[in-house]
Amino acid sequence: MTHTSVAIIGAGPAGLTLAHLLHRQGVESVVFESRSRREVEETVRAGVLEQGTMRLMRETGIGERMDREADIDDAIDISINGRRTRIDLLGLTGHHMAVYPQHEYLRDFIAQRIEDGGELLFDTTVDEVTGYDGDEVTITYTAENGMQETITADYIVAGDGSSSPHRAPILELEGSERTKFEYPYAWFGILVNAPQTQKELIYATHPEGFALISTRSRSVQRYYLQCNPNDQVEDWSDERIWGQLHARVDGEGLTVSEGEIFDRSVLRFRSAVTDPMQRGRLFLAGDAAHTVPPTGAKGLNLAVADVSVLAPGLVRAIKTGNDDLLRNYSALAVPRVWRAQHFSYWMSAMLHSVPEQGHFQHRRRLAELEAMLATEAGRRYQAQQYVGFDLPTFDL
Ligand code: DHB
Repeated sequence: MTHTSVAIIGAGPAGLTLAHLLHRQGVESVVFESRSRREVEETVRAGVLEQGTMRLMRETGIGERMDREADIDDAIDISINGRRTRIDLLGLTGHHMAVYPQHEYLRDFIAQRIEDGGELLFDTTVDEVTGYDGDEVTITYTAENGMQETITADYIVAGDGSSSPHRAPILELEGSERTKFEYPYAWFGILVNAPQTQKELIYATHPEGFALISTRSRSVQRYYLQCNPNDQVEDWSDERIWGQLHARVDGEGLTVSEGEIFDRSVLRFRSAVTDPMQRGRLFLAGDAAHTVPPTGAKGLNLAVADVSVLAPGLVRAIKTGNDDLLRNYSALAVPRVWRAQHFSYWMSAMLHSVPEQGHFQHRRRLAELEAMLATEAGRRYQAQQYVGFDLPTFDL
């Protein structure tokens, strides 16, 4: 193949969702992924789907396994020193949430891509992208067999994650900016062979720090503990992990279920927003453009929201030559990115303990959390942000 409509770099949530949406509108693409299929399908990431993401999966014929296997919940719990308050997501918003790990989402989209006969090139590295300011983009890449090849495309989309090299040309534009923020904490994440602690997720705050009880299946659980950003995996013995999980979460008859820990990692807390997310025929989507901290698990959902604008923009431009939606991609996508930044920051700040901030901030933070939980209006605000807003739709 020597030409495609849309070249997509990265087989993550942004790239694979985009390829699927384009295919459904009859627009073909090639997806380049430097990692192997196995690595993409096995890398552990977060796992909450917003209602809009669940709906997109169902409406585009890819939601069957999610509906069968995801842990679909109608509530989450927020716990302060072991006292839990239920946020009735379904009652407050009319929507559920799903715990469906990102790699399962990717597995479904990869299988669909292959079934649809789409071009999905694993173990393939993009070496150079040129021509995005002109009439056609040229992509030079090293294929799985080590041969260097080129392909041309009408448009190029970089969905290759937070260290994407394709942000650089956009940041050369006058008036462009990348805004960053670093948080004074991180998460220590584990996967455990254990029964569910309880069906719904628990976001817990405690003077010792935050903890999150999530799940992967009936027999595999995902737990997180607030830790120091400089902590190494070796700093956390099993004894320390279980001691801290029980201290931070147990209460009112609930005890965190224990088991063999088979995966451990430290997750950084960072925010970044790139604006604009486009230059000529080059577009950024997902983490290539923006990073959110893990609390609330907005990352995948934000990538899906990006491509819900980008896909119709590309389809309209390719099919009708009208590129007004495409030119407005950034203007339409960036406000949602900032709202997700706000929510992820707000939830993080309310739930994490930062002793260096002093006693006043500690008590004020708990008062903020309690004020939110004490009123239906507060719980509804939390619930609406958590299940997420409808994805944008456009007539084609
Ligand atoms: C998970 C991760 C999150 O950041 C979150 O808010 C909820 C769940 C998870 O990995 O299961």
